[in-house]
Amino acid sequence: MRVLVVGSGGREHALAWRLGRDPEVERVWVAPGNAGIPDEDRVPIAAGDLEALLAWARRHRPDLTVVGPEAPLAAGLADRFREAGLSVLGPGREAARLEASKAFAKALMREAGVPTAAFGSFDDEAKALAYLEAHPLPVVVKASGLAAGKGVLVTDDREEARAFLRGLFAGRFGEAGRTVVIEAYLEGPELSVFAVTDGERLFLLPPARDYKRAQDGGRGPNTGGMGACSPPADAGDGRLEEVEHGILRPTLAAMRARGTPFTGVLYAGLKLTPEGPKVLEFNVRLGDPETQAVLPRLEGSLARLFASAAAGSLDPGAVRVRPGAALSVVLASGGYPGRYRSGFPIEGLAEAEAMEGVLVFHAGTARRNGRVVTAGGRVLAVTGLGGTLEEARARAYAAAERVRFEGRHLRRDIGEGC
Ligand code: GLY
Repeated sequence: MRVLVVGSGGREHALAWRLGRDPEVERVWVAPGNAGIPDEDRVPIAAGDLEALLAWARRHRPDLTVVGPEAPLAAGLADRFREAGLSVLGPGREAARLEASKAFAKALMREAGVPTAAFGSFDDEAKALAYLEAHPLPVVVKASGLAAGKGVLVTDDREEARAFLRGLFAGRFGEAGRTVVIEAYLEGPELSVFAVTDGERLFLLPPARDYKRAQDGGRGPNTGGMGACSPPADAGDGRLEEVEHGILRPTLAAMRARGTPFTGVLYAGLKLTPEGPKVLEFNVRLGDPETQAVLPRLEGSLARLFASAAAGSLDPGAVRVRPGAALSVVLASGGYPGRYRSGFPIEGLAEAEAMEGVLVFHAGTARRNGRVVTAGGRVLAVTGLGGTLEEARARAYAAAERVRFEGRHLRRDIGEGC
């Protein structure tokens, strides 16, 4: 098989690394990739340039395309590829609304009886403000559309909620914020569950916990994710069955009933509340940085699993979950998720990569004059593997210490509460 991975982050480097180990796979291209991908395997096309990706795929005919980020799926990449007779793992534009429209996802959950926070969704500012006035605190205000993780406010300050809401209607996130969802705050630890699905059958990848805030102890601003662990202790088989039967299967059934079956990876972002798991949000792709901790825990052929889902006949025997644990620590540029500088040389990569039970995945990196330099907010993810979470954690942090660049920032508490 020849596989195209679309995207440029740590998730896509992990996908390319893992797919490249499958016996069926003879070639993996990444568009556009990062400095962790050999130059000859990089396709210099941005993940958002659908026309150029399609033209390239028509010429090179990959046997499978795996799409990392949500935006190209929401823009219809999978539909366009399938129309051209190309196999692609990922939902079409209509099914990608599970992530691209929070108002749609919430309405679908209500219809399908999937547990989620009580909510109202509005495209009228006065009605939204009236709902907010009567809502108990804390409250969650969300832009309905895609806002690169920045369109959500959790607050116990009503004035702050009003100001955020007004900003959304004033166009702070463009069209993404013209519809808003206001919902109750849910208590409990978060859990990320990923189902690879052909629309009906599904295979659960190992569950993971994401550490979203910039600073230790869950303080500071929200980021794309500063680390991940797999498996969390509170995500045993019983819990996963509850998620599969109470959340994932009813959601897939509701999508089929609408005539827009969901194929690809359905990512349930959950809160484990005292009343059971509830959906915070759905995503229509793998998580980043969860993927960097999840994929190293798989044995077998990921390419076969993905290709079978894309073909509508999922082969759940294609992969097995390896016992043990994995933990991934993100090394970020100083200042991220706010302003940061790039172009700093990265030292110690080869040393870290040579350590036992360690994998280094690139994210915001580039090659300049033969050296690897920083080129983004999240620069690298260092994954440790072990028989236990403690062993995985010790390996990840020992390796992370070896990798140095100016302004490097990392959380020291990834794995706590896992
Ligand atoms: N780790 C959160 C996400 O991928 O959306």
